[in-house]
Amino acid sequence: MLLNDINSVRFEINKWRKEGATIGLVPTMGALHAGHLSLIQKAKEICDKVVVSVFVNPIQFGPSEDFDKYPRTLDADRILCEREGVDIIFAPSADEMYGEGQRLSNDTLTYVCPPFFYVNTLCGKSRPGHFDGVCTVVMKLFNIVQPDKAFFGQKDAQQVIIIKKMVKDLNVPIEIIQCPIVREESGLALSSRNKYLTEDGKKDALVLSKIINNIKSCYKKGITDVSALKETAYSFLTDKHDLEYLEFVDKATLDNKREADDDTLVLIACRVEGVRLIDNIYIGD
Ligand code: PAF
Repeated sequence: MLLNDINSVRFEINKWRKEGATIGLVPTMGALHAGHLSLIQKAKEICDKVVVSVFVNPIQFGPSEDFDKYPRTLDADRILCEREGVDIIFAPSADEMYGEGQRLSNDTLTYVCPPFFYVNTLCGKSRPGHFDGVCTVVMKLFNIVQPDKAFFGQKDAQQVIIIKKMVKDLNVPIEIIQCPIVREESGLALSSRNKYLTEDGKKDALVLSKIINNIKSCYKKGITDVSALKETAYSFLTDKHDLEYLEFVDKATLDNKREADDDTLVLIACRVEGVRLIDNIYIGD
């Protein structure tokens, strides 16, 4: 069932609650791919009812980012969700989410702002305000749907860590389930933004997964010095790659590591053909 308004979603969910159903929420911005489907399948496996939200959230995009051209494929998304047995696809407009005529700025709208330490690093450095926008919309979706469990992909590792922190700090009674990255056979992590790449760009984009996999195998061979691990990674880069960051952090706290260990999460962001791509790996697994 496709619903666009908050009241209808609440009405259906109240019925489920009375039946004692466990409710799962999969928040998305649409342009669904196999990565999203893996979240939906996990939700279907462990919840009685599943809601998928499809909303390209304007407040998590910076002024020079791809909000306008972000792929919007609701008809296709709907078919995919129905095939997976999703109970509600919630696809609100920005007016429905934020109020008609509401100016979308933290001067006039209540935002949920995660701690500086968590946002002033990795993707947050080049995307000021991004995680405020993410936490705000996710908190709103949590309040609208009031799910028991919410599902997020490890692909956006910093996002999941920040959402877990928000849920803990604000005592939100929702279990956050993190699901593994889904990759093409080539190793490329699935992303809605891969649609922007040419065939050659997709080949060049393999550098992200190659670098993090190489780091993991070097670590497994006993190399733990982060500077040395970074040096080997840089040799994979060519003039087709515009590296934004390659960082080694604690997988729970985002603290930087000088020596890699089993709790290390390695994250990379790199532009290929002007498209900003991210990937990450737990090297201790
Ligand atoms: O990961 C995403 O697609 C978005 O950041 C999310 C969590 C749906 C919030 O808009």
